[in-house]
Amino acid sequence: MSKRVLLIIGGGIAAYKSLELIRRLKDAGVSVRVVMTDAAQRFVTPLAAGALVGERVFTDLFDQTQEFDVGHIRLARECDLIVVAPATADLMAKAAHGLANDLASAVLLATDKPVLMAPVMNPHMWANAATQRNFATLQAQGLRFIGPNEGEMAERGERGVGRMAEPEEIRDAALAALSDGPLKGKRALVTAGPTIEAIDPVRFISNRSSGKQGYAIAAALAELGAEVTLVSGPTNLPVPFGVKRIAIESAREMLEASEAALPLDVAVMVAAVADWRPTKEAPTKIKKGAAGVPAIALQENPDILATLSKLGKKRPKLVVGFAAETNDVEDNARAKIAKKGCDWIVANDVSGDVMGGAENQVLLITKDKTEAWPRMAKEAVARKLAAEIAKSLTAKARRK
Ligand code: C5P
Repeated sequence: MSKRVLLIIGGGIAAYKSLELIRRLKDAGVSVRVVMTDAAQRFVTPLAAGALVGERVFTDLFDQTQEFDVGHIRLARECDLIVVAPATADLMAKAAHGLANDLASAVLLATDKPVLMAPVMNPHMWANAATQRNFATLQAQGLRFIGPNEGEMAERGERGVGRMAEPEEIRDAALAALSDGPLKGKRALVTAGPTIEAIDPVRFISNRSSGKQGYAIAAALAELGAEVTLVSGPTNLPVPFGVKRIAIESAREMLEASEAALPLDVAVMVAAVADWRPTKEAPTKIKKGAAGVPAIALQENPDILATLSKLGKKRPKLVVGFAAETNDVEDNARAKIAKKGCDWIVANDVSGDVMGGAENQVLLITKDKTEAWPRMAKEAVARKLAAEIAKSLTAKARRK
């Protein structure tokens, strides 16, 4: 059966380009159904869009015939991908806040399918803090975005970021989102970044992890089609395309969010989890003064990698840990597999400039082999690891 896209056309002058998008999707063998907002109908008519898709266009949440016929729940489910083009500031805001007062927003709230948005708006509206907040919220929920691009706006003389991506770009992003990667249908967890452990409301213990390697792995797994949850400590990195990010601070929050992501096919624990946390978190800021220098007693944090590795029946099929070592890298990593109960360890020597750097040089250690990978960009390490994971999970599926 051909792949099905539900195209939601929002109200912007770029709506005319969505007619071209329909044609390009159909040329690529994709079947297209169209929902138009009220505002969209000011720019292009349902008749024009309907003529291109060869069926009626859906416009009204409260139209009795339309609702009996198909209904917003069926529209939301009977597709493989929802594309919102143009995605206006208003549609993004509604989706970010879960509003559902028209057909387009109700469909977005009701769907369990991947969503790709192609925003378009005036550059000031795009740069506005409210839109940027909504954009970040939607990305963290795993929605994908293409554009907006920089360029000339419809208003004369205005330039900036806010142009809708071109129909071919949107088509390519839609086809990529529709493609069946080798990890399609597989659920993956990646932990990344540092954790921070509070001493009092303003002070904490943490480490220098940038989160780069973990984020790159989450992106690479999503590229291969996996449904990825990224549980991340504080970092400055954008959420990778198509990944659901859960932001946490402490090791205990990371453990809780990781367990909530079960069941899983693969868990890749890249986070630099703080080994210890202050035994007591002072409820108010510890004052300098009479009591002298405070002693901070520490206690051990839960080991997330070991906990997931020893889950018994609920254990992810493949558990991958990381090991940052400064000496005897391979021996220490093998000992770690045994101690933590994971399947693989990606070990790196952090005596150089790996932490926070752009490149990494690792050993992939499994129960029966050790592979030394050449030094390469963290993204390349991520893609190679994602390919190994795909190979292992598809081999496991065949053995079953
Ligand atoms: O024991 P060590 O910290 O060297 O182990 C590193 C590996 O264990 C990494 O994969 C890291 O994400 C994971 N880990 C964890 N929870 C901890 C400590 C480490 O998941 N509390």
